[in-house]
Amino acid sequence: MDGNGRWASKKGMPRSYGHKVGVERVEESIRVASNCGIRALTFYAFSTENWKRPQPEIELLFQLLRHQVKKKSLELKEKNVRVRFIGSRDRLSPQMIKSINHIENLTISCNGLCLNIAMDYGGRDEIVRIVKRIANDISVGKLKVDEVSETSLDFFSDLSHCGPPDLIIRTGGEKRLSNFLLWHSAYSELSFLDTMWPDFTSEKLFEQVNLFTKKIRKYGSLDLTDVG
Ligand code: IPE
Ligand code: MG
Repeated sequence: MDGNGRWASKKGMPRSYGHKVGVERVEESIRVASNCGIRALTFYAFSTENWKRPQPEIELLFQLLRHQVKKKSLELKEKNVRVRFIGSRDRLSPQMIKSINHIENLTISCNGLCLNIAMDYGGRDEIVRIVKRIANDISVGKLKVDEVSETSLDFFSDLSHCGPPDLIIRTGGEKRLSNFLLWHSAYSELSFLDTMWPDFTSEKLFEQVNLFTKKIRKYGSLDLTDVG
């Protein structure tokens, strides 16, 4: 979800306005995803690098998130959406952790859309956390070094419950992953759009999903429709 600040500045508005409108696009995307049968949706809400932003902006982002959790929990539960936060929790405030626990517990038995919010998330940090958990299992004798496999990394990863994303969309004009889902994106389709996040409407999401369905994914193998 990149481009909130630039979108607002271009309109002569403060960056906070871009973040507020950005939240509406998040709501819209969740609606589309849960209505059109998308199994899992992950938002990169706050990265491990976003702590470098000015304190007032950090506070605004957290405040918006807590407000949304409060406002939307019941509706998400009714829509059968299972909410999980991924990333590290060590640096989050007690209020933020309380909100996270509240919505995660409330939606724990939902089996519709799997909604992941990446909060204090970094792909490199996730890999470090995975390695620590594997090392710990080895040190207590639960796992042997030779048994460590891609499956073990998946198991300890933040997306163990839903698997890797099929499609990653980045708005805002930059063509990079910026530390998003590094382990999981090995075979994801990547879509980099010039559209700023506050302009990423449901029509644009539909368009992206449609384009994705036309892709032939071979995972290093051959396209069998070509062989012949
Ligand atoms: C949204 O856009 C970022 C977050 C979800 C934290 P930005 O805040 O990065 O907006 P730009 O890139 O400055 O325009
Ligand atoms: Mg940005």
